[in-house]
Amino acid sequence: MSEVETEQSKKVFFRTFGCQMNEYDTGKMRAQLESDGYVATDSPEEADVIVVNTCSIRDKAEQKMHSALGEYRRMKKEGQPVTIAVAGCVAQQEGQTLLDRYKDLDLVFGPDGIPQVRNLVRAARTTGRVLDTDYLDLDNYPFVSDLDPASKGKVGAFVTIQKGCDNNCTFCIVPTTRGKEASRPWDEIVDESRRLVDTGVKEITLIGQNVNSYGLKNPGDIPFAELLYKISDIEGVERIRYTTSHPRDVTDELIQAYADLPKLTSQLHLPVQSGSNRVLRRMRRYYTRERFLDIVAGLKKARPDLVLSTDIICGFPGETDEDFEQTLQLMDEVGFVSSFSFKYSPRPGTPALKMTGKRGEGVAPEVAQERLVRWQTMQRESSAAWAKSLEGGVHDVLVEGWSKHDAGVVCGRTSQFAMVNFPGDLSLVGKTVPVQVTRAFTNSVRGERVSQA
Ligand code: 5AD
Ligand code: SF4
Repeated sequence: MSEVETEQSKKVFFRTFGCQMNEYDTGKMRAQLESDGYVATDSPEEADVIVVNTCSIRDKAEQKMHSALGEYRRMKKEGQPVTIAVAGCVAQQEGQTLLDRYKDLDLVFGPDGIPQVRNLVRAARTTGRVLDTDYLDLDNYPFVSDLDPASKGKVGAFVTIQKGCDNNCTFCIVPTTRGKEASRPWDEIVDESRRLVDTGVKEITLIGQNVNSYGLKNPGDIPFAELLYKISDIEGVERIRYTTSHPRDVTDELIQAYADLPKLTSQLHLPVQSGSNRVLRRMRRYYTRERFLDIVAGLKKARPDLVLSTDIICGFPGETDEDFEQTLQLMDEVGFVSSFSFKYSPRPGTPALKMTGKRGEGVAPEVAQERLVRWQTMQRESSAAWAKSLEGGVHDVLVEGWSKHDAGVVCGRTSQFAMVNFPGDLSLVGKTVPVQVTRAFTNSVRGERVSQA
């Protein structure tokens, strides 16, 4: 009997924390385990294998994963014969410590273990506890090409274009947890995008920790901007997004792509982290606020309706009131339509940790909290003003499915990523239709379908 048959009809439950990269990784694990005879389930109670895909970007994410794990371990203690695996960034960071701390844990593996997930799960179920936190060789890195079964029927899909990160932003743990950067060969990316289009996907989102440094490391690789042209050439791809990019690696060619490629959407997530040059230097971001503003101006020239979203860290060690004022001023200058904002969280082994600890430059938690609230208040105002500015206009909406709230109402996104709800039915899913915006709400707008854009 083959191994595939022995694992037949076993059930696997995934719990994913963190970023889109983790969602994508979970999809790849799902695909691989399904090809090994597993069936994905939504309920941990009926699972033979539970995989917790973890995030360690901030302490909060890490704590959440420990409490989820507690729940699954309790189920095991109460008699459920389940194999429990911890994958992802916390697994990479803690490794053996996790196995020592939780005696009922069966498997711990980092992001580089994902291409091996079938073997790792088999080993954990047959031969005992397994730890795999080795980094894989960067030459011929085995990017998984199996499609996530859960992406079937979806309008949008992620495609990974690189793994790891070669930057060394002083606050960030990612270079430790995900290791060195490797770019995926462009023909594999094009092939995966084509196969997704064949399943009905219309929008491709290219993902990686620092997508616009794609192809810079190996002679002969193509740069990121060129990759965008290749994806744009694929028939059936209607929209292209990408995340996350770094201001340091925004090239003139990338800016030009916004003038040349209508499929490239009019929304860009460009994390700035801070508006103060002093803080940017201490974060090792390798750009200034002036350079950032130049990039924004260049992008808007190439694509006048481009909108930007960003990431902000409040209370980075040594950040003064004046530094933070500079960050607030950026909001006035750029008018971000949305942002993810965080209080600085000290991470093990990062250079900024020394600034907080030994050098005593940590910002008091209440000060960081107050700054966060100020940023978020400005963000809410900026987002609301933008949503209001959409009222009356007609926008092309790529329809994704039923709206969450109302019967007979569908939802979709504009090129600028505004969420639009309007009366319709499921026959519209996957189609792009013109919709006139009638009313703006906090996180979405309401509209009516019209016959012409
Ligand atoms: N503390 C707070 N925010 C962080 N980020 C990364 N590391 C930290 C940290 N130690 C934020 C950055 C990054 C986003 C993914 O998470 O803003 O862009
Ligand atoms: Fe972290 Fe900086 Fe790499 Fe982004 S670019 S993953 S913030 S080190």
